[in-house]
Amino acid sequence: MLGRCSLETLRKRKSHKWQTHAADVLPAFVAEMDFDLAEPIAEAVRDALAVGDFGYGYLGELAEAFTAFAEKRLRWAPDPSRVFAIPDVMTGIAEMIQAVTPPGVVEAPLRRLEDGRHDLDPEALDRALGADGVSAYLLCSPHNPTGRVWSRQQLLTAADICQSHGRALLIDEIHAPLVLPGAEHVAFLSLDHEITQRAVALTSASKAWNIPGLKCGVAVAGSPELGAALAERWEALLPGQPGVPATVAAVARSLPWLDALLAQLDENRMLLARLLGEHLPGARYAPPEASFLAWLDCRALGLGEDPAEAFLARGRVALSPGPGFGTQGRGFARLNMGTSPELMAEAVRRMAAAAAAHAHEPRYSAARSPVWARSGCRPGTTTIATPGAARLRRSRRAPACRRRERRTRARRGWPRACRRACWGARRRSRRSRPRGPRSPGAARRRA
Ligand SMILES: Cc1ncc(COP(=O)(O)O)c(C=O)c1O
Repeated sequence: MLGRCSLETLRKRKSHKWQTHAADVLPAFVAEMDFDLAEPIAEAVRDALAVGDFGYGYLGELAEAFTAFAEKRLRWAPDPSRVFAIPDVMTGIAEMIQAVTPPGVVEAPLRRLEDGRHDLDPEALDRALGADGVSAYLLCSPHNPTGRVWSRQQLLTAADICQSHGRALLIDEIHAPLVLPGAEHVAFLSLDHEITQRAVALTSASKAWNIPGLKCGVAVAGSPELGAALAERWEALLPGQPGVPATVAAVARSLPWLDALLAQLDENRMLLARLLGEHLPGARYAPPEASFLAWLDCRALGLGEDPAEAFLARGRVALSPGPGFGTQGRGFARLNMGTSPELMAEAVRRMAAAAAAHAHEPRYSAARSPVWARSGCRPGTTTIATPGAARLRRSRRAPACRRRERRTRARRGWPRACRRACWGARRRSRRSRPRGPRSPGAARRRA
């Protein structure tokens, strides 16, 4: 039902995932999957194609289809009159941030647990939301990249803190349909809490049914006032027209496909634990409770701040760089498990080969190298934090993959560690620049 994930076919795709790297690189980075489309979605897009239906999107039956899906799968019954179409979640977030906040991002780091998992940290959140000038909290639930599914109690604690500081709340629930066996997602707007009046939930079929290119998301306003803020921005938030019927086809008629996907992802997350144990035991991994992204702690592998760089350069496998997710991502990398067990095993073998090659390489001390010392760049001072905010920031440097590869080649004569130090310093210096207001165009460029 989910397809064969044949590399020959996948390499014919023209998407960012399959076109960014050279043909010898196995792409396991950007959050889209390798499976075939659910048939009802393919049919909805074929129907649109047959009549040239590629104009501006119209809400049509999207609100009713989404609320029926939310009742069936998310145990949440939003009012259809508060449901709005948006082109994608990041544009929805960018527009709502402009609606409810002045520009700027403050970090609220997660707490790292002994077992390698992460938790919301109420004290860090209280500090961040108490900071001067903060207007809104952007919460990712379930969480990307750690794969945590927050409990009702954790969400209520976050809600209390947000309420006590009088902040608005934007909640990114794009991974909610992908909660895996053993975990239970609580839709934020289903909570009995007054903060829901100041909250907007944003979601999309783009992750669960793998259709980000069709540009249709869903925003649900927690109050009539926030509904009015969304309605006012209708021009900026127009969805792609084939995306609307495709999203209806996803939430209304593609649940068997979703169930087959969840079974495959459940298998993949367990298989990854075995593969890492066998080939790369130094990498620490807590299987995600939702979605298809594995957050790998590579700090013990000695691959530096951005292990994805070494995996790509030495192993020809492209993961998402951990530092792109915020300061807590240093030494981490994100692996995409939305593929066949065979391709996932190949990705892990390539990572292991890269780590082994790195271990046998002559060493230079990045921290003490003259390039580092001369760069004059100090670790970034910009504060980043909630995963959604980290993604917003990441979007500013999304086109870097190609340029970075080119730079690698240009600097081939340099000692590797010096190159890494220099890149790190540049990245940090870029991060420490003050941020201006985000434009939907910039949000759209994110990976
Ligand atoms: C938590 C989260 N939010 C938003 C997005 C992007 O969604 P969209 O394409 O709808 O902007 C992603 C993509 O990986 C994501 O993981």
